[in-house]
Amino acid sequence: MPINTSPAWNALSQLANKHANDHMRDWFLADPTRVATFSESACGIHIDFSKNTITQEIFNHLIELAHTAGVEPARRAMFNGEAINFTEDRAVMHTALRHFGDEPVLVDGHDVMPEVNASRAKIKAFTDALHTGSHTGYTGKVITDVVSIGIGGSFLGPKIMTEALKPYHQHKLNVHFVANVDGCHIQDVLALRDPETTLVLMSSKSFGTQETQQNTLTAKAWFLASGAPQSAVALHFAAISSNVPAAVEFGMDPDLVFSMDDWVGGRYSLWSAIGMPIALAIGYANFEALLKGSYAMDTHFKTAPLAQNLPVILGLLGVWYRNFQDAQAHVLLPYYHYLRGFPAYVQQLDMESNGKRNTPDGSPVEYATGPVIFGSEGTNGQHSFHQLIHQGDTIIPADFILPLRVPQQNDAHHAMLASNCFGQTQALMQGKTFAQCRSALPDDMAESDKDVLAAHKVMPGNKPSNTITFAQLDPFTLGALVALYEHKVFVQGVVWDVNSFDQWGVELGKVLGNQVLDAIHSGQMHADMDSSTQALISQFREALLK
Ligand code: F6P
Repeated sequence: MPINTSPAWNALSQLANKHANDHMRDWFLADPTRVATFSESACGIHIDFSKNTITQEIFNHLIELAHTAGVEPARRAMFNGEAINFTEDRAVMHTALRHFGDEPVLVDGHDVMPEVNASRAKIKAFTDALHTGSHTGYTGKVITDVVSIGIGGSFLGPKIMTEALKPYHQHKLNVHFVANVDGCHIQDVLALRDPETTLVLMSSKSFGTQETQQNTLTAKAWFLASGAPQSAVALHFAAISSNVPAAVEFGMDPDLVFSMDDWVGGRYSLWSAIGMPIALAIGYANFEALLKGSYAMDTHFKTAPLAQNLPVILGLLGVWYRNFQDAQAHVLLPYYHYLRGFPAYVQQLDMESNGKRNTPDGSPVEYATGPVIFGSEGTNGQHSFHQLIHQGDTIIPADFILPLRVPQQNDAHHAMLASNCFGQTQALMQGKTFAQCRSALPDDMAESDKDVLAAHKVMPGNKPSNTITFAQLDPFTLGALVALYEHKVFVQGVVWDVNSFDQWGVELGKVLGNQVLDAIHSGQMHADMDSSTQALISQFREALLK
């Protein structure tokens, strides 16, 4: 039965109509227990979701919707290693990578924990070897810099988590990231490096991604052009890939090729050896704490009743806005400079997972699926796109994320940061009425001008937000936070009945990009090319040949 014909869905549609003209500020005035009712904590993360346009009745029907959609059996199927990524016939087992229990974790009846533990040991050994200087470059000099090359899930997770955990850096290595095939980036990064003290880490599950291959070839050419012998490539180039033979063929030492399995999706791969740049920056013990935080969230997600389950709650609130309030977008607002990349991380996680339009039998979905995800660090966004969230003619649910303390805290700054965060959620929820705006205008203003100006100043309020707080962003908490969003996306994918684990939408662009590249080099247009694309190629070729 399609989810939009279920009793829970119908009840929610009716409730959306019934409460269309209600305002959250009245609900807060009427019910002093509202914040206690709509708050939950787990794994050191507290979520106040009271500033959402939900009543207890709406919340109950959202939970019923999750039951109807089969969130619990789907969750079991994922953790049990079933091939839930059915279009690629693969299990989805990133949770095995952060498993710390004694029980086996089975994929196809085979316990994967021995290889997971072996991979962890290899990451630890290499991290230690670089930190202690026992792995040196070909001239005997200690490695000081790591250039990590990868894109998508082989870039965003490692880069953004490394950035987020800056206060935990061990300062043994400088870790740099390159993703874009735009040559400016790799040139800028390599220009400041010494080939004798640099290690290049190629992160590519497939080992076939064009951007990553080209950047690694450019790095290899730079290395050899410095006078390094071909044999030194094995000491200065390492890879993380599920295609080990391709890495060895590239010239890498098999001992410096870190394998990963098919059952780890790209955007869920930071927990595998793909996360090694994080370990190189923060040390293995901190990396393991990151894994343990995500394991704690896995355990919470697996065991907590749906109504107290943080990923389930966040997922269902998203469904409420997307399907019953016509919200097109969702904004993430980390109030912590080091977490500034988090919106971009969740953007890939969410949009590549749930930007889908077919149910398992191939028929089109009859309702909205994944929203547009965007955001930036607070308070910067307040002086920019928040205007539209406050006064625009649409609903953009927001997640405000704030550590209650930060390392080397400057109390004056942190209090201002927190006050802006909380003040924004209050302004979004309460708004400002016409009467309030009008009465604040100067007495000597003409009455008709007051009416006009007050109308422009009205803040409708009733704009939803979650406030997510934690004691501080240590590695454990960051692991839990990332897993919280992973499972939120999973819950929504189950409700929408889409496959959250493939990404066929990005494939056509890759194929056509290669055809265009051939045409740029050869001047031969492909038969399928439209006149606009042909004209662009010709224009580019003219500039190239000048
Ligand atoms: O283009 C999308 C994608 O397939 C992502 O899902 C993945 O994270 C990224 O490309 C990189 O892929 P790889 O690790 O194989 O280079």
